[in-house]
Amino acid sequence: MTDEYPAHRAVPVPASASAADGAIVTLRDGRRVLIRPVRGGDGAALAAAFQRLSPESQRQRFGSAPHALGLRILRQLVDEVDGVDHVAFAAFLTDDPDYLVGVGRILRYPTEPDTLDVGITVAEDYRGTGLGRILGELLAAHRPRPARIIRTQIAASNKPAMALLAIFGGSPRQSGDGDLVIEVND
Ligand SMILES: CC(C)(COP(=O)(O)OP(=O)(O)OC[C@H]1O[C@@H](n2cnc3c(N)ncnc32)[C@H](O)[C@@H]1OP(=O)(O)O)[C@@H](O)C(=O)NCCC(=O)NCCS
Repeated sequence: MTDEYPAHRAVPVPASASAADGAIVTLRDGRRVLIRPVRGGDGAALAAAFQRLSPESQRQRFGSAPHALGLRILRQLVDEVDGVDHVAFAAFLTDDPDYLVGVGRILRYPTEPDTLDVGITVAEDYRGTGLGRILGELLAAHRPRPARIIRTQIAASNKPAMALLAIFGGSPRQSGDGDLVIEVND
C-alpha cells in the first residue's frame, strides 16, 4: 500500500474554453464536459451543485459548511464575475447544460488589488479526471493582472489542491494567519 498518487496524462485545455460559448473537453475517463466562463444566470446551477457536494467538500471550499448558498453569496459568485477583476470558469454536462460539475474562480481582494484569491471545486464524481487542472490552467492564463500574489485558505494536507496551486508557479508559504501565499513568477 502506498500513498503516492499516480501521475496522469494532462488533458489539453482548448483556448476556446475561455470564449463565451466555451469548448467541449474530453476528460481522462472519456466523459465530456462543456467548459465556459461563468455568466449571469448560472446562480441556480451553482447552488444546485453546492447542494450535491458532501459537507467535507463544502467546508474545504468555504471554511464552514452552510446548508445552502444564500442569495448574497450567489450574487458575489455569479453577478460579480466581470472577466477582469473576477474571472470564473465552470464545467457543465454536455447533455444537461444546467448541471454544473466544476467551477474555478480567481479574483482580486477589494482592499488589496495586488492580491488574488483562488478557489476551485469539482463534483466528487468528477475528481481525478483532470477537470481541476483544466480549470486551474484557465484561471492561471486569465488571472487579473498585474497582480502577482495569491493568498487563499487551503490546508497543506489538501494534496489535490496543493498540486493545482503549483500551476501558478512559486512555492506556497504559510502566512501568519494561516493562509497560503504564492508569489507568481511571471
Ligand atoms: C482540489 C480539487 C478541485 C481537484 O479536482 P480534480 O478534478 O480531482 O483535479 P485533477 O484530477 O485535475 O487533479 C489535480 C491534481 O491533484 C492530484 N491529485 C488528485 N487527487 C490526489 C490525491 N488524492 N492525492 C494526491 N494528489 C492528488 C493529481 O495528481 C493532479 O495533479 P497532476 O495534474 O499534476 O497529476 C477537488 O479535489 C475538490 O473540489 N476538492 C474540494 C474543494 C477544494 O478543496 N478546493 C481547493 C480550493 S483551491
